[in-house]
This record gives sequence, structure tokens and C-alpha cells, in this order.
Amino acid sequence: MKNDRLLRALRRQPVDRTPVWLMRQAGRYLPEYRATRKQAGSFLAMAKNPDLACEVTLQPLRRFPLDAAILFSDILTVPDAMGLGLYFVEGEGPKFERPVRTHADIARLAVPDMGTELRYVMDAVSTIRRELAGSVPLIGFSGSPWTLACYMVEGGGSKDFARVKSLALNDPAAMHRLLDVTTDAVIAYLAAQRDAGAQALQVFDTWGGVLSPSMYREFSLRYLQRIAHELPRGDGEDRTPLILFGKGNGAHLEALADTGTDAVGVDWTVDLGDAVRRTGGRVAIQGNLDPVTLYASPEAIRREAGRALDDYAAGNGGSREGHVFNLGHGMSPDMDPEHAGALVAAVHELSAR
Ligand code: CP3
Repeated sequence: MKNDRLLRALRRQPVDRTPVWLMRQAGRYLPEYRATRKQAGSFLAMAKNPDLACEVTLQPLRRFPLDAAILFSDILTVPDAMGLGLYFVEGEGPKFERPVRTHADIARLAVPDMGTELRYVMDAVSTIRRELAGSVPLIGFSGSPWTLACYMVEGGGSKDFARVKSLALNDPAAMHRLLDVTTDAVIAYLAAQRDAGAQALQVFDTWGGVLSPSMYREFSLRYLQRIAHELPRGDGEDRTPLILFGKGNGAHLEALADTGTDAVGVDWTVDLGDAVRRTGGRVAIQGNLDPVTLYASPEAIRREAGRALDDYAAGNGGSREGHVFNLGHGMSPDMDPEHAGALVAAVHELSAR
């Protein structure tokens, strides 16, 4: 591989510069993405076409010297393949035609077949891997069981997650049945992406942070532990590292490091120095610039990137090893591509060893 900074940093090995990639690095902030989406007709048509998914995966890499590609897809492909009927309403985000509301709905859920129902994702992974030709590693991903359950039960996005939290509180056994089958699906999905060529795997626990500490442990962490234990990922230099990213997971970093994951991704409310100190070098840390920083001037972006790099080193005995630079959450459609470029350049310059 020509650029293996990401994989080396995830293994906490020395690198020449801190690797950087950006959550939602492929997306509507790029005019070329909007053109491909228009050509495809819709986001889902684009995601389900391996050649177009490959094209939009590569678009940000043609502009910026990013250290990784991330599969262009969505976390909701899994519940879609479980029969829930994913669709998007312009301006309202994702929705399901058949949300999970009753015991019968839960009993009907089954792990989808990776070779048929989710074949398009695996074809995208192998196409992207071939087109990357070893230039940078390819990250595959899945939603966390809890985060997928939020969309499956709510039927879309939510302000307060009242339905899914009520299910967990009123009928924990039913909630655990839902989370169990979803976890089996997530593990099979990530394993299939690895088999198709993904070189690192990230789990997005976007909504773990909306739970109280005890509910987080019972309904989110427990299933992240199962993924970290059960997902086959090889050994040594051939190991496919697992990154557990969570928005609002700052209260649970020790527990996340104890799962056996290779890396923990954090949002901008966490001090990176504290994150390293609290996880004691057991995992790599990914993050964590506030994405809103990308609306600020290139000078401010550079200053804040330097601050995040130095916070990490301050907690790691002065060393930058074991840090993967990223935003604390995804990019937004109205961000200026030049500002993303300024961030990538600043991280590389300021972290040169
Ligand atoms: O990071 C990348 O570049 C890879 C692609 C990626 C997408 N979605 C593409 C996408 C990834 C990793 C995701 C994950 C995802 N999807 C998450 C977890 C990450 C996070 O942001 O917390 C979640 C919660 C979803 C569910 C989802 N899908 C939402 C909330 C939306 C946005 C709806 C909207 O209209 O803003 C989507 C659609 C989606 N997924 C888009 C993209 C680029 C926008 C689609 C478009 O072009 O209209």
C-alpha cells in the first residue's frame, strides 16, 4: 500500500504525519457529488449502483490528499435489507415504510443475506478497492445496533427518541430481541465488507449519547462489546482494525476501550488528551474537530486543528502516535470544499514528524 498511515496509526505504530479523513467526506458539499446524484436520480439509486458509489467515494480523494477512502453507502441499508422499506423525503431525511412497532414486527426480523440483499454494497466495496489500487486504505462501516434500532422503531429521525426509549423501558426483553438480531446482522455485514476488501471498519453509534448511563450500558455498549468480541478481523499486520465512533460517548471511554476494539472515535466535547489518558494506550483515538469549525476562516481551522493535535500529544507523553485526525461528526452540505482542503493540509503540516 502506498499510504498506510491510517492502518499504522490505528495499530498505534509510528507514522510520518497524522492521518486524516473526514466523516461524510463524500457528499452534497461537493458539486461533482451533486452532479452524480442528479445523473443517478436519487441518493438511493446512486448508493445501490456500485460504479456510481465508487465514483462518489473517489471524488473527495481527487481534491484532497486524504489518508483514507470511506465506502459510499448508508447505515440504513441493513434495516432496508431486513424488509423495512427505506426511502428519503427531501428535507426530512430517511424514513421507513414499515417501522418496527409490535412483537410480531420484531419476530419477523432476520439477518439479511449478504450475497443477495446486500450484494450491491459488497460489489461497491470490491469495485472501490480495485479502483483505489493501493493508494489509500478503504474503510467499511455499519450503524451500531442501538442507532439502527432508533431508526427502525421511530421510522425515521427523531427529536426525543420517545418511541424507542419507551420500548426499551416498557419491554426490555423485546428491545433485546430486536438488538440481538440487529447485532447479528451488523457482524455479518461488517465481516462481508472485510471479505470484499474493506481494510478498516467503523461502527457509527450516532445516538448512543442520547441514553442515560445505565441505559447506554444495557442497550448500546453491550452490543458494541458483542461486535468487538465476535467480529473476525485477523491478527498482527493483517488485522482489520475496528473503530467504535459514538456521538456523546465521552462518559464511556474506559468501557469502550475495554470492549477490545482497536480504536475509539470521539466528538468535539471530549478533550483528546483526557481521552488518551483515560484509555491508557489500549486503543487508538480518532477525532475530533467540531465540524462547525469548517465554517470559520482557514486561519481559524488551522489553529483549531493544531490545538486538537497538541491536546492529543499532551495526554500521550508528547507523542502524536495512535491519533487518527477526523471531525467529531459529519460534514454538512453547505460547507466550502476549500475549507476541507485547508484542514487536511493543516493536519499534515502541523503533525509532520
Ligand atoms: O462519510 C462518508 O462519506 C460515507 C458515506 C455515509 C453516508 N451516510 C452517506 C449519506 C455514511 C458513513 C453515512 C452514515 C449514516 N447515515 C449515519 C451515521 C453517521 C452520522 O452522520 O451520524 C446516519 C445517522 C445515517 C442516516 C442518514 N442517511 C441521514 C441522517 C441522512 C441525511 C438525510 C439528509 O437529507 O440530510 C442520510 C442520507 C445520506 N447518507 C446522505 C449522504 C451523503 C445525503 C443524501 C443526499 O445526497 O441527499
